[in-house]
Amino acid sequence: VPLAGVIGNPIGQSRSPLMHKHWLQRYGLRGDYVPLQVREGDLDAVIRALPRMGFVGANVTIPHKTAVLRIADHVSDRAAAIGAANTLIFRDDGSIHADNTDGYGFMANLRAGAPDWDPRGGPAVVLGAGGAARAILVALADAGVPQIFLANRTRNKADGLRAEFGDHIKVVDWTEVSVALPQANLLINTTSLGMTGQPPLHIDLDTLQPHATVTDIVYAPLQTPLLSAAAARGCVTVDGLGMLLHQGVPGFEHWFGRRPEVDDALRAAVL
Ligand code: ATR
Repeated sequence: VPLAGVIGNPIGQSRSPLMHKHWLQRYGLRGDYVPLQVREGDLDAVIRALPRMGFVGANVTIPHKTAVLRIADHVSDRAAAIGAANTLIFRDDGSIHADNTDGYGFMANLRAGAPDWDPRGGPAVVLGAGGAARAILVALADAGVPQIFLANRTRNKADGLRAEFGDHIKVVDWTEVSVALPQANLLINTTSLGMTGQPPLHIDLDTLQPHATVTDIVYAPLQTPLLSAAAARGCVTVDGLGMLLHQGVPGFEHWFGRRPEVDDALRAAVL
């Protein structure tokens, strides 16, 4: 039986087992998918042992997404650019291939939820400069978004991303986001603000154009205050759950041989 799993620490909160087991069952495929709690010092040994235990691959989550790049034998271009991997493929020759599907998942979710959004239609405003922002910035540039306004509470992290990813990124002060908003064709929250148990995201959308698309990577709650405020302005909004679901598609397809669908049945299974 082909096995896959998700490696993290802690791992109990991960929705990935629900998602992959739903797909395995739905398509009647042989296989299983398990949560794997792994300490940092054990990461190398565990990953090297997995192929010998029948694992065909694994997802990787916090705090191991960057460390796995050093362990992998091959790193995809997008994982290298992002500086992190979330998907491992164990090849028949014993080698380990690391990929990052977070940016893909973000873009697939956005295209599904906002089919009229045109990447070349104007600038994006990105809130946050953490790991999720890195994947999204790479995906936006790949999609052809001409300019990105980047705001982060800790400004020097945003400056660092600009230095790394290029001049199409313009850093704006966290307190001055509203200055960039009138130009936004897309507004993205990549911070944890607005998540259940976290502080709210205070941003005034008064100058946001109603034709702008707004998305949030937070998916608990599904309808964040940001998305509610944007919907009230008439904006198309896309919730964050689909990013999680779509990022799992390439791995599942590699491991189990069938491209799975992201639909309401899957959403219900993971919520
Ligand atoms: P992830 O991998 O999900 O992106 P992360 O790398 O820890 O997680 O990044 C969290 C992001 O949320 C950062 O941009 C962080 O801002 P800082 O770089 O200033 O820490 C942002 N964030 C978290 N809590 C915040 C808060 N209370 N106010 C503003 N931004 C916050």
